[in-house]
This record gives sequence, C-alpha cells and structure tokens, in this order.
Amino acid sequence: MSSTSAPARSAGRAVPPTGSKRGPSDAGGRGSDTTGGRGSDTTGGRGPARKGWRGVIEEYRDLLPVTADTPVITLREGATPLLPAPRVSARAHCDVYLKLEGVNPTGSFKDRGMTVAISRALQDGAKAVICASTGNTSASAAAYAARAGLGCAVLVPRGKIALGKLAQALVHGARLLQVDGNFDDCLELAKKLAADFPVALVNSVNPYRLQGQKTAAFEIVDNLGDAPDIHCLPVGNAGNISAYWLGYNEYFRAGESAGRPRMFGFQASGAAPIVRGAPVQVPRTIATAIRIGNPASWRLAEAARDESGGLIDSVTDRQILAAYRLLAREEAVFAELASAASVAGLLQACENGQVRVGSRVVCTITGNGLKEPDWAVSGAPTPPVIPVGASATTAAATALGLA
Ligand code: F0G
Repeated sequence: MSSTSAPARSAGRAVPPTGSKRGPSDAGGRGSDTTGGRGSDTTGGRGPARKGWRGVIEEYRDLLPVTADTPVITLREGATPLLPAPRVSARAHCDVYLKLEGVNPTGSFKDRGMTVAISRALQDGAKAVICASTGNTSASAAAYAARAGLGCAVLVPRGKIALGKLAQALVHGARLLQVDGNFDDCLELAKKLAADFPVALVNSVNPYRLQGQKTAAFEIVDNLGDAPDIHCLPVGNAGNISAYWLGYNEYFRAGESAGRPRMFGFQASGAAPIVRGAPVQVPRTIATAIRIGNPASWRLAEAARDESGGLIDSVTDRQILAAYRLLAREEAVFAELASAASVAGLLQACENGQVRVGSRVVCTITGNGLKEPDWAVSGAPTPPVIPVGASATTAAATALGLA
C-alpha cells in the first residue's frame, strides 16, 4: 500500500460519489495512487470519482491516526451514496437524505472503523483480534481480519443475531462463540479475554473504530457542501453517534463546514437505557442490532446530544417496522430494522414539533436489509403457486389481477 506523506487535504481526495462541494475538477490524482491513478473518471463529464476511491484511510489519511508505516487493510469502504428521500421528505416537511451505509463492503457502517482498527492492530503486532457483536461488527471484523491474515474470534448472543451476519463471520473464517446471554454479557467477556490473552479488542471501545467511523460525517459535508441541520441515527452501543459528532466537529474546526448538526439518536423502546437513564437488564426489540442494555459509549453519546442541542429518544418496534416498510416500498431502500429507527425517530420528532419545517436532515441507514430477510418475508403474503400446464396463463393472470 502507498506510504507517501499526507497530501494537502483538498488536493488528494477523491470526491464521494454524490459530491458537490469539491467537485470532480479539484479531485486531481496523486502520482503514487495505488489504484494506478485516477484518470478521466475524476475529471470527465460523467460524474465523480467513484472509480478512484481508495478507501477511507487513503482518502482521509491526514485526519486519521495512521502513519506512513501503517499497513493499510482496506476493502475500499466508504464513498457510500447520500440519497435524496422525496417520500420521507414529504412526510417530514424537510429535505431528507439517506446515507446508505449498507453499501459498504460487508454491508454496514462498521467497515469504516474496522479498516482503521485492523490496520492498527496489524501495525502494533497483533496476531488475532476479538469482538463482541450483535452481528455487524463480527461480520466486518471477520472480513478485515481475513484480508489482514489475522485470526478473529467473535462472541455473539445465542439465537439473537441475523442469519446473514452469522454466515458472514463463518464464511470469512472467524472462530465464533455463541454466548448464552445478551450483547452486554458478550462485551464483558470479550474485554476480559483481551485483557488476559494476546488478542486485540476491536469493539468500538477501541478508539481507532470511532476514528474510522467519523469519516461518514466528512463525506456528508463533502457531498452537501455543508453540515446538515439535523443528523438522525439509531443508537445501540452508542459508538456511531459519538463518531459522527467527532467528525462533524473536526470538519467544522478545519473550516470545511459553516455549522454542525443537531444529533438525534434513537433507541428501541425495549432497549433504551440512555432514554431511561439506567441500564436495561433484559433488552428487548425486534431490531437485534441495537438490542443493547448498557452501551459502552453512553457518556460520549450524551455529550454529542448535549453539545449539539440534540436529543436521544426511543421508538417502538411498531414504528421501526413501519419505517422499514416505508423505506423499502417508497424509497426503494432495503434497510435493516435497526437502521429504520433513524427514520422512525425523525418522523416522531417531526410530529412532536422538534424539527423546524424545511430543515436539511440526514438519516444514516446503518446496514443492509439482506442480512436479515426474515421480516421482509414473514410480513408479506405467501406467494401463490402456479401449476405448469394448459391453465398456467389463466391462473397466473388471475393471481396477478390481470384477468
Ligand atoms: N445499526 C446497525 C445495523 C448496527 O449493527 C448497530 C450496531 C447500530 C445501528 C448501532 O450503532 O452501536 O454504534 O450505536 N451494531 C453493533 C454490532 C453493536 O455488534 O454490530 P452503535
């Protein structure tokens, strides 16, 4: 990987795909670009620099805790779409965008943090990494560890993670333990193992994770030309809301944005310790990704809320499911249930009069709905079966309401 010194910030970075601020014309390539150099894709008329995107470490190297010696382990994460959401906008009476983090290589925002955590673990001499997870962190850790040639151990709550996420950890060769408890029990155990044995912990208590995840805020500002008024996201272990706030602040101080958003975080009502002000012993929600009763970044999330003039509130499983269906049917975005909490929360905040009409709002869609297709299938009517034969056309036409 490239080990050249940090470029001037606005000179070396490819513009995220929906870029407007820097524009394709000032995304000129660096001679040492490991992709073989950006050519006409960054300067031609056919849109910005997706082809030249080198992953979040190379694109934001000067703002991340890496050195020239860091072995960069990347799957070219980042540069995710910032999709205008006209139907959600109409309901919210706002200008709403969806940051589609499910487009990342392993299907969730975790890849942004994992590229930094795994690269640094390798640099620091680790031979193996460990994490606790509700599924996405383990999928991402397993993939980046495989790429780095590191061992990977993951602890997940038994029977409480989506099948797709389990499949990802297994297919990438992680050692997987199902713990008879919840995520909070898994994290406690992972911390103990990392303290007693030579394995690096890559949960978001590892500061490199939040450092990588903050790049999503940079991309949003690069795309919009400024920070949004409000940023909504689901809250589980509370790392991501903390990371975004870090990113918005850094860009603001660097003069890249004129303002900072109010941070709106949403927990599931059966797993809402921050809203309640006390840990939840037995967290319950259909959104397994955020089924967490004692978030590790609790204080950081409260700081993000308070410093930004934002809020952390809860939404019911029913609201989450309604937003999940709205996203799929009207915006064509297949989100995870947990991800839909950001949109459910926004709509609730609008109803509560907590959002000024006409605000520019970004909702992070944290993960890809394909990881947990069960709700999509179980919530739909069973498709009719058409027998093959002479009557097939009539039967199909009738079933489709055409006849
Ligand atoms: N959305 C999804 C899809 C997630 O997987 C998570 C967290 C969150 C939202 C909440 O983010 O924890 O930073 O507040 N998943 C973790 C995991 C806990 O293990 O994959 P957070």
